[in-house]
Amino acid sequence: MRRLAILLSGRGSNFEAIADAVEAGAIPDAGIVAVVSDVPDARGLARAKERGLPAFAVDRRGFSTRADHEAAILRILGEARPDLVCLAGYMRILSPDFVTRWRGRLLNIHPSLLPRYAGTKPQLRALEAGDEVSGCTVHIVDEGTDTGPIVLQKRVRIEPGDTEESLSNRILEKEHEAYPEAIARMLAKLPIES
Ligand code: GAR
Repeated sequence: MRRLAILLSGRGSNFEAIADAVEAGAIPDAGIVAVVSDVPDARGLARAKERGLPAFAVDRRGFSTRADHEAAILRILGEARPDLVCLAGYMRILSPDFVTRWRGRLLNIHPSLLPRYAGTKPQLRALEAGDEVSGCTVHIVDEGTDTGPIVLQKRVRIEPGDTEESLSNRILEKEHEAYPEAIARMLAKLPIES
């Protein structure tokens, strides 16, 4: 079985899309071995528990430094031994050390057509720029913010009258297709470790 770990901070709809795809066999021969949240009352973490998945709260407020907080997450990942670590609405910047530890096996999803609109409020920035097209990107994480090699993008047309909310919702629907597809693609390329 190919092993997936999820890091999230909030709603967790991308995590649920991944979990649904795993259950449906759309990500072949895969299982979720850890769901980690830095926010203890994140909805995504509650949903992981309801699904009977190994769920871990690692509250940022319980650690005096980012390094200590990340070390606690790295310990969980070390035990879970995932093939891929998927950031799914994980709203903290990871240190270069963390990225180095999981280099090439750490994925993120972002609601824009990167490299456009890295960082915060990408949907609003696309609207304000008068763009006709937006979308989402799944990419391999490097040391930058929302940078790193792109695995897959899906486009969404911006309609007249779109608001930040309406556009975000349509992009999110595409995210839920894009992330499982990207994971399946990545797993197909990764060597199988014994
Ligand atoms: C998603 O739109 C995701 O692309 C975004 O946070 C949302 C999380 O939703 N991530 C980023 O902006 C990362 N830079 P979810 O918790 O329902 O999956």
